[in-house]
Amino acid sequence: MQIRTVATTPFPDQRPGTSGLRKKVAVFSQPHYLENFVQSIFDTLDLSGKALVLGGDGRHHNDVAIQAILRMAAANGVGRVLVGRGGLLSTPAASCIIRRRGLAGGFILSASHNPGGPGGDFGLKFNVENGGPAPEKVTEAFWRRSREITEYRTAEAPDLPLDRPGIQRLGGMEVEVIDPVADYAELMERLFDFDRIRALFADGFRMRFDAMHAVTGPYAAEILERRLGAPPGTVVRGTPLPDFGGGHPDPNLVHARGLVALMNGPDAPDLGAASDGDGDRNMILGRGCFVTPSDSLAVLAAEARLVPGYAGGLKGVARSMPTSTAVDRVAADLGIPCYETPTGWKFFGSLLDAGRVTLCGEESFGTGSDHVREKDGLWAVLFWLNLLAVRRAPVAEILEDHWRRYGRTYYTRHDYEALDPAAAAGLMDHLRQRLGELPGREVGGRRVRAADEFAYTDPVDHSRSTGQGIRIVFEDGARMVWRLSGTGTEGATLRLYLERHEPDPARQHDDPQAALADLVAAARALGEIEERTGRDRPSVIT
Ligand code: G6P
Ligand code: ZN
Repeated sequence: MQIRTVATTPFPDQRPGTSGLRKKVAVFSQPHYLENFVQSIFDTLDLSGKALVLGGDGRHHNDVAIQAILRMAAANGVGRVLVGRGGLLSTPAASCIIRRRGLAGGFILSASHNPGGPGGDFGLKFNVENGGPAPEKVTEAFWRRSREITEYRTAEAPDLPLDRPGIQRLGGMEVEVIDPVADYAELMERLFDFDRIRALFADGFRMRFDAMHAVTGPYAAEILERRLGAPPGTVVRGTPLPDFGGGHPDPNLVHARGLVALMNGPDAPDLGAASDGDGDRNMILGRGCFVTPSDSLAVLAAEARLVPGYAGGLKGVARSMPTSTAVDRVAADLGIPCYETPTGWKFFGSLLDAGRVTLCGEESFGTGSDHVREKDGLWAVLFWLNLLAVRRAPVAEILEDHWRRYGRTYYTRHDYEALDPAAAAGLMDHLRQRLGELPGREVGGRRVRAADEFAYTDPVDHSRSTGQGIRIVFEDGARMVWRLSGTGTEGATLRLYLERHEPDPARQHDDPQAALADLVAAARALGEIEERTGRDRPSVIT
């Protein structure tokens, strides 16, 4: 194998966002683009002689990028790379493999829930030895390096076949193609009561899992249908496709429309679930009912003792700031700490590593625990299955019981996508300027208790993150949260998150849009949304 040093010049736009470097396929496939970023990682971290994992969600460009990274890893002296068969690995499975096999880290190729195909998005992120995404100080170092890079190293070598498990060599580097599902499935068997879930299915329980033609298809087929005995056909859209079948692999009420319709129709099975492009998000639906991610986290926290992996109780819980406060009430009841972190799974990593929290979750359809260092879609589904297998009650009943006990937190998120970035920044600036004068004032009939721009000091490593979204809290506990998306690739996306708590069981069955209509109207006026963005309604409501 011959090593080649290729001269290059920096790209100005390689600063990783909320979750790695995410760009249009056309950007990523420019000559040297991927290579510059990968070399910046090799230049920042000393990975020579180390073992890494490599895989992605199978989207367009996954195959080309995997071969390029393998050649560069060999040329940069990496000792060993484990690659998921066919180049596939879900994000939580990659995290699991790094941890179980004691690897130095790994490359995950995905743009998560963003559409794929030649006109879609691609992404690359590096996870470190705890199995979680590289922390911000590390990703910032990648970015700094990418701005001064002058050359990268690669190897002259043909593409390696990745379709069968086994060991190959690329120069001095060992490449092992592994079954992408096995390690992960074994971990799930240790956390959940598979016998009990099998008994549930044997008694006629029906579910539908929508893999959205993304990476979880093979995982769900193996775990749900093969190991747990769910009837064949339980997993739909189970074949990963480079363009996700033209769909938008984001499990929410808008993009998993077919599943939502099924669950609201006459033939609804007992449980509906979906996962995103790279398998870390989840959506849970019961017959005629949608479990918001914020509620799902609260229910899992409240019921965790029913599940073997969590029977010893929870050390603490964490949620991102825009996630509803439903889990806070459970934590208070359990007498355990509840942490509020900025948006982005990476902020949970240090709390999990320090043993401060066991469960964590985000409104953006992410739920997870200390079993890996990523959010985990199928894990959340199995957690619900385990609860249902113990309680033998419909999802809706479990949810209603929860609300009766803790109150219901009505919640909605309104997204304004593809905005002119200057208009979006102007809107946020305008709110920022008003923060000081809002407390004590009435907005839409409610008195403001506090208004600030969220900043966070990690209690473990004391690192500080500022500018993490504007929050306006009212005297009755209702909240309005405003932030700009860190993952969009087209213009700016404004996210507006609204919630209010309803303790009265007689008023817990309204449509959230109706229950929150006054807050929505107040927010639109306060943010001057229409005047500033030209939009009279959000593009997506979840
Ligand atoms: C990714 C991260 C999540 C985060 C989400 C926020 O999915 O993994 O942890 O919640 O991005 O995305 P946004 O577009 O709101 O910045
Ligand atoms: Zn994802």
